[in-house]
Amino acid sequence: MDKLLIAGNGPLQGEVAVAGAKNAALPILCAGLLSDQPLQLSNVPRLWDVATACKLLGQMGVNVERPAFDQVIVEAAGLTTGTAPYELVRTMRASILVLGPLVARHGEAHVSLPGGCAIGARPVNLHLAGLESMGAQITLEGGFINARAARLRGAHIVFDTVTVTGTENLMMAATLADGQTVLENAAREPEVVDLAKCLRAMGARIVGEGTPTIRIEGVARLAAAHHRVLPDRIETATLLVAAAITRGCVRVTRTDPTLIDAVLVKLRQAGARISTGDDHVELDMRGRRPQAVSLHTLPYPGFPTDMQAQLMALDCIAEGVGTIRETIFENRFMHAVELQRLGAEIQVEGDTAVVTGQRRLTGAPLMASDLRASASLVLAALAAEGETLIDRIYHMDRGYENLEGKLAALGARIKRVAKPL
Ligand code: EPZ
Repeated sequence: MDKLLIAGNGPLQGEVAVAGAKNAALPILCAGLLSDQPLQLSNVPRLWDVATACKLLGQMGVNVERPAFDQVIVEAAGLTTGTAPYELVRTMRASILVLGPLVARHGEAHVSLPGGCAIGARPVNLHLAGLESMGAQITLEGGFINARAARLRGAHIVFDTVTVTGTENLMMAATLADGQTVLENAAREPEVVDLAKCLRAMGARIVGEGTPTIRIEGVARLAAAHHRVLPDRIETATLLVAAAITRGCVRVTRTDPTLIDAVLVKLRQAGARISTGDDHVELDMRGRRPQAVSLHTLPYPGFPTDMQAQLMALDCIAEGVGTIRETIFENRFMHAVELQRLGAEIQVEGDTAVVTGQRRLTGAPLMASDLRASASLVLAALAAEGETLIDRIYHMDRGYENLEGKLAALGARIKRVAKPL
């Protein structure tokens, strides 16, 4: 099990490019199931979760090729089975995204219940209720979701809670349903919008993506398409926090600053000087200690829960006290106890953490618990004095493409330490 060895090394400086968005690539790969024609994708990030998704599709008889570093071709003409096995689903909950496409295209699906993860119970009841309202017969047995439908029919679905993958699953299912589907209280995340763009390129009839109401008119079949995955807004924001926490100056390129407005507001409140262009964001915190910021997480366009842990790390070394409230997931503060090992002062009460900034943190051995927590620990270690060794960084590898290489190129003293077998 690999570890990361990090030594605080002063301000990060330079330019770094961002990869494609993990949380767009995953549903878009599954969209390939909807057609027997090739879906050609570019700007696909090199991540464990993407590799898992490709393996899952391959097991279903789907032809998946990777002709170039960031390209993937999905061709589901040879789709043989609609089964997503437990051993793959438990390593990547987003496997649930094959459910809607399989029922719509194949007429049946057998997907292991994803189960919870470190950050919460992660139920999928809204995915299932939506499919049932579209005419699918769904049973749960032996830890599997079994779904069947000769042909889905359009329905009017109102989500009790905003759900990103729930919106994506049902939007994909609706593209081949008979009639119109309306999704109310739909997720507005940029990754949902990017999926809709890809589906439209395949011939789907969708309007309203990016708003709370999405309308989909079912069609008989979808065709071949090309799609370039949008930049990863969470990787972008994570790299900007790395610049801020080390009081450096970094330009993040191949991205879209409009995807992270809520985060840029907070980084400016922290005292960062931020300039943006069409495809880049530059953050300058040279010579200044960040000011503590308070925030609460919300569905897009509110402050993203996937950046909560990273901003907590920034508050740990900031001047003043920051209050962080997590409203999306019930257990997303596990990075707090690890940050306290570095000397951070954090009081957690229910869904709220109060962080009192410290002038200095001191390196220590740490253990990552989940994807964004691992990023938070890396960021804090960059600002800590001395060495930090972070274990279980496979969590990081699931969702960040070569994060240590990108940080090292900006001046960080960081290297991967493979644990002797
Ligand atoms: C997506 O997860 C992302 N994952 C998560 O990113 C992200 O944190 C989350 O959206 C919120 O933005 C992918 O896109 C692959 P939700 P998802 O359904 O879709 C409740 C990362 O770090 N809910 O929007 O699983 C749920 O419990 C990951 O990249 C139900 O109650 O999240 C939660 O409280 C972590 N029933 C809330 O909705 C349901 O059927 C939002 O969850 C579905 C969800």
